Amino acid sequence: MFFTPESSLRRHSAALILIVGTVLLLLVGGTAAYTDVRTGADPSAMRVGSNYYSAESADGGIWVREAPTLEGLGKPTQRKKVWSDNIGAVWAPEISTEGGRTWIHFAAGDDHRMYAISADSPLGNYPSSASKVNLPDDRWAIDGVLFTYGGQRYLVWSGWVGTDNVEQNLYLARMSSPTQATGARYIISQPREPWESARDGSKPLINEGPEAIVDPDGQLHIVYSANGSWGPRYCLADLRLRKGGDPTNVWDWYKSNGCLFGSVQANMMAGWDATLGIDGPGHHTFALPDGDVGKSPGGTNHIPFMFHGVAKGTPYSWANRHWYTGSFVWWSQTKYSRKNVPGDNENVGYSFKFFEA
Ligand SMILES: *[C@@H]1O[C@H](CO)[C@@H](O)[C@H](O)[C@H]1NC(C)=O
Repeated sequence: MFFTPESSLRRHSAALILIVGTVLLLLVGGTAAYTDVRTGADPSAMRVGSNYYSAESADGGIWVREAPTLEGLGKPTQRKKVWSDNIGAVWAPEISTEGGRTWIHFAAGDDHRMYAISADSPLGNYPSSASKVNLPDDRWAIDGVLFTYGGQRYLVWSGWVGTDNVEQNLYLARMSSPTQATGARYIISQPREPWESARDGSKPLINEGPEAIVDPDGQLHIVYSANGSWGPRYCLADLRLRKGGDPTNVWDWYKSNGCLFGSVQANMMAGWDATLGIDGPGHHTFALPDGDVGKSPGGTNHIPFMFHGVAKGTPYSWANRHWYTGSFVWWSQTKYSRKNVPGDNENVGYSFKFFEA
């Protein structure tokens, strides 16, 4: 789909009206215009048929919720513990569908490795023992997300280059099955921009929570969380694969020039506004139909998604994080620029405007 400048103008003014409306709501209503779903972090959801399903880790296991709306996941019609065993702590399960099967990828154990379980339906019977996901180099890995793009299955995750906790990069590997990589792991992003890297030299630096989605031009994006999850500078940024690019080639990815959804204005990309009600929004889910990037939503409407953050006025801490529903619109003709690397310095294409409501 191609937007003429005229329709893009209309979209700009529609977004402006929405921002003004949100501010008015805040002023008049005195209550923040956002929807708190539940206490928790790292939401992952998808829509299957007429229901949404989410995955979360709790009590050393994995739980799946079912509800007819994203907001409803806070008071699910069903909530089921689908898996637990003795690998150790469990982090950030990511739910998706492939070939009609539900897959849940998650990190577990003191050494933080990726595992996966699958069942014939989201609330179905999962095996009692999880399969380890065989990733190249077998390093610390979290937030692995399975997706298929251009007929190739990939896993994208946040990991360490070696054995030291200095930097969480985003890696991608081709997968011959949902649990088996084929070939090398490829780095696609490092936390090296000022808004995602400690100026005082302290470590670790963070890129995590990668989520894949395809824009209305058919281009792949990995929207990820940058900066530290322990503070209000946590935010969402975008990697856009250039037209015809190869997902395993780092120079085919163009990074947004700042946060696209965040609470610290100085860290936002120029022209993007900080949040009004929620601090440090991050680790989101696009809640795609069947958790399938091939079914990514297009159009010019506000598209619902979910993220975690901390309500303004509350100290930023892991324990104070909640799931919130928000929305985004595809934002056309957006330039991302870079220097001193191979390939073009500039790339123009779709980006995102994220809203807390
Ligand atoms: C977060 O961003 C700020 C810049 O606003 C930077 O100074 C800080 O080091 C960053 N923190 C991390 C962990 O990346």
